[in-house]
Amino acid sequence: MFPLVLPRKLWLLLPMLWCCQTSLAELKVRVRLEDGQITEESLQADSDRDCIYLEFRKADGTFITYLADFKQEVKIFRILILGELERGQSQFQGLCFITQLQSNEIIPSESMAKLRQKNPHTVRQAEEMRGTESLQMEVAVNFTKGIQLSSHLHNICSEAKEAIYTRQEDVRAWLKKGVDGSMFEILPQSNSLPVLHPCKLCSQDWKPCICSYRLSLEWIPCSLKYCKNRDSSGKTTSYKCGIRSCQKGYSFHFYVPQKQLCLWDEET
Ligand SMILES: *[C@@H]1O[C@H](CO)[C@@H](O)[C@H](O)[C@H]1NC(C)=O
Repeated sequence: MFPLVLPRKLWLLLPMLWCCQTSLAELKVRVRLEDGQITEESLQADSDRDCIYLEFRKADGTFITYLADFKQEVKIFRILILGELERGQSQFQGLCFITQLQSNEIIPSESMAKLRQKNPHTVRQAEEMRGTESLQMEVAVNFTKGIQLSSHLHNICSEAKEAIYTRQEDVRAWLKKGVDGSMFEILPQSNSLPVLHPCKLCSQDWKPCICSYRLSLEWIPCSLKYCKNRDSSGKTTSYKCGIRSCQKGYSFHFYVPQKQLCLWDEET
């Protein structure tokens, strides 16, 4: 049983039905987060802009957005963390991580737009566990100029203007494509002098340190499934008949000028 089905006939019909409607489609999927809480994941596909938004809220109020921008082959993670007012933080703190989109991470936006779900109340569990990827986000991206990387950056990262990070290997790939290098600023690294420690080992709130943020996407439609069909002449043809779902974790490591900007790193 596929947890989600692409009705065969609809699959063929929809492109015609949709010509005069909006290209936005939303799917809401119930998932269990790592802490055991159940939340609703919203998956929005925009086939005109060729992108997919995945969003959910954690029990502590943290709001996570994952955007796959197929046009510019990048993905953006935005994390909005509720601040601790009594520790002098603002109401919420935004983080943005931008990196290259790989080809097997998520299905194309036009397939996503056609996904339908049989039992919307079922709590979904991914079929494939893809582990946790560790990302060294050693470069800051200038918010104003960063629009070159993705036309969505200004919309998504407006609450994280001072906290947009990427990796050195992404920067190298983008420079080859001809993006303006002046938008990047290499940040102090863990092996630079004076030595920077992980924030959770640092006892003073005003000291710079290397902060970590870990998140997990519990349910992503990561690839298409194909079924076979035999026609009257005996010839077999294959058609898209569903999706395969994946779970994937991301662990981001990045420089902060003060430990205060990384308070969540204490408990773990
Ligand atoms: C980002 O780029 C804009 C436009 O060039 C510039 O005005 C601004 O000072 C830059 N911001 C930082 C933090 O360097």
